[in-house]
Amino acid sequence: MKIAAISGSLRAGSSNTAALRAAAHLAPAGVEVFSFDGIAALPFFNPDLDGDVVPEPVEAMRKTIGNADGILISSPEYARGVAGVLKNALDWLVGSHEFPGKPIALINTSPRATHALAALTLTLETMSARIAKDGCATLPLLGGAHDEHSIVADPALAEPLRAAMERFAAFIRNVQAEAS
Ligand SMILES: Cc1cc2nc3c(=O)[nH]c(=O)nc-3n(C[C@H](O)[C@H](O)[C@H](O)COP(=O)(O)O)c2cc1C
Repeated sequence: MKIAAISGSLRAGSSNTAALRAAAHLAPAGVEVFSFDGIAALPFFNPDLDGDVVPEPVEAMRKTIGNADGILISSPEYARGVAGVLKNALDWLVGSHEFPGKPIALINTSPRATHALAALTLTLETMSARIAKDGCATLPLLGGAHDEHSIVADPALAEPLRAAMERFAAFIRNVQAEAS
């Protein structure tokens, strides 16, 4: 099983990216979580460019999403909304055939950041994603200098994340079983 991890933060020391990398370590056996960091290369969404031939970075993202069994997203809240770079990526996936029905789990690295999480959930539901509510996790990383290793080493962070990844993998298996 392959899960594409997408961080809504482009910051080098991002807690969201760290959480996704930690999730890769904590995922159950047989589950590969790989980083998709191509969202920074996408052009701004423009319906005029969303034709039969799309810009190469868009094509690459759609192919990656199409080949993934699920998507794990972790995004910061900016000004009570979803990070623009992530929303731009999602706008490019609205018209794709690869995205609808895709299993998705969300990681929130800041318990106070409820607005972005709510907005992201609404957007994903509108795009016909299958959100694994049990596979989502909120981790209190805001303000701490965490990297993937410190998250994995701290049971208070690692155990909820490990459990969420187990439930997300089970959710994906169920979705795949329903479809077959
Ligand atoms: C421009 C900007 C706007 C922000 N707006 C909010 C906000 O509305 N609510 C909030 O809880 N945090 C807000 N934050 C804090 C970020 O969500 C927080 O620093 C987050 O951990 C950054 O994620 P990262 O470590 O992955 O880069 C904002 C940060 C920046 C830089």
